[in-house]
Amino acid sequence: MESVSKRPHPEASTQCPLAVAAERYFYKPMAIFFNAFHLRAFQTAGMQWVSPVLDVGCSDGEFGVILARVVGSPGEMTGVELSADAIQRAGDEARALYTNLLCANATDLPFEAGTFNTVVINASLTSIHPGLEKAMKEVHRVLREGGVFYATVCTERYEQQYWLSRALNRLGCRRWARRYMDSMNRRMQQGHLYAPERWAELFEENRFKVVEMFGFLPLALTPLWSFLAWTPLRLHGAFKRVPCARLHRGLAALYEKLFRGLYERTPPKLDPEQSGYIFIKAVKE
Ligand SMILES: C[S@@+](CC[C@H](N)C(=O)[O-])C[C@H]1O[C@@H](n2cnc3c(N)ncnc32)[C@H](O)[C@@H]1O
Repeated sequence: MESVSKRPHPEASTQCPLAVAAERYFYKPMAIFFNAFHLRAFQTAGMQWVSPVLDVGCSDGEFGVILARVVGSPGEMTGVELSADAIQRAGDEARALYTNLLCANATDLPFEAGTFNTVVINASLTSIHPGLEKAMKEVHRVLREGGVFYATVCTERYEQQYWLSRALNRLGCRRWARRYMDSMNRRMQQGHLYAPERWAELFEENRFKVVEMFGFLPLALTPLWSFLAWTPLRLHGAFKRVPCARLHRGLAALYEKLFRGLYERTPPKLDPEQSGYIFIKAVKE
C-alpha cells in the first residue's frame, strides 16, 4: 500500500456516542439505543481508521457518518451495499464522507487483492445470508497483510430476550414465541446468531487473528430494545416528517436523558456470554 493516512477527528474525544445517536435518530428511539452502544464499542476499542477503508453492508451510510463523529474521520472510505435502494437513500453527509458508495455483493467484492488497510462491518455480517463464509474470504482477500477488520455481530442468546417472545414463552406459547423471533430477525436482517466462540472460530477459520472480543449490548437490556422496536411504536417515526427543528432537538434531548442512566451504568466491555452483540477486532494473518 503506497500511502497510509491516519486522520483523527479533531473533536473525536468530545463526541458522546449517546448524544450523537440521539441527535441523528430523534424519531426512532430503538435506533438511538442500539447505535449508542454500537458507537461506544468502537470508541472503547480505541478504533483507529487506517485509510483506505472499506465499509461492507454500509446501507445508506448513516452509521458511517455517526461513527466518524465518535472516532474521527476515516480519510478515504468506500462503502459497499447490496441494496440499491439503501444507496439511493444516502444523504448529503454520507455522500460527502464516502469516497465511493457502490452497490455490490459482499460475496464478490469488486476490488483487487490487498486494496484496503481497514474493513468495518457493523451489524451486517449477521445479515449476509447466504454467503457469510464467502464474504469473510472476500474481506480477507481485499485487506492488506496486517490490515484490521472490525465487526459487530449478534449472539445466539439475543433473540431469546425479545420481550414478546419471553412473554409468549412464559405463557407456554412456544410456537408463537419462535414466530416472533423469526419475524424480528427478518426485520432486523439478522440471519446468523452464533455463540461468541463460534464467531471467533469463523474468524480464525478464515485466517484472521482475533485480537479483541467483548460484549457491549447486555442481554438484560435486550427486552427494552425489542420493546422500542415493537411495530406499533414505529408510528413515532412520523416525527421525522414534521418540519420543526425545535421539536427534533427536544426529542433528541428527551431520549438522551431517558437513556443516560442505563447507558452510563452499563460497563463498556462485557462478558460476551452476557451480551446480545459482540465487538470483534481481528487482524489479517
Ligand atoms: C442490519 S443492516 C446494517 C447497516 C449498517 N452497517 C448500519 O450499521 O447501520 C445490514 C446491511 O447489510 C446489507 N447486506 C446484506 N447482505 C449483504 C451482502 N451480501 N452484500 C452487501 N451488503 C449486504 C443489507 O442490505 C443491510 O443494509
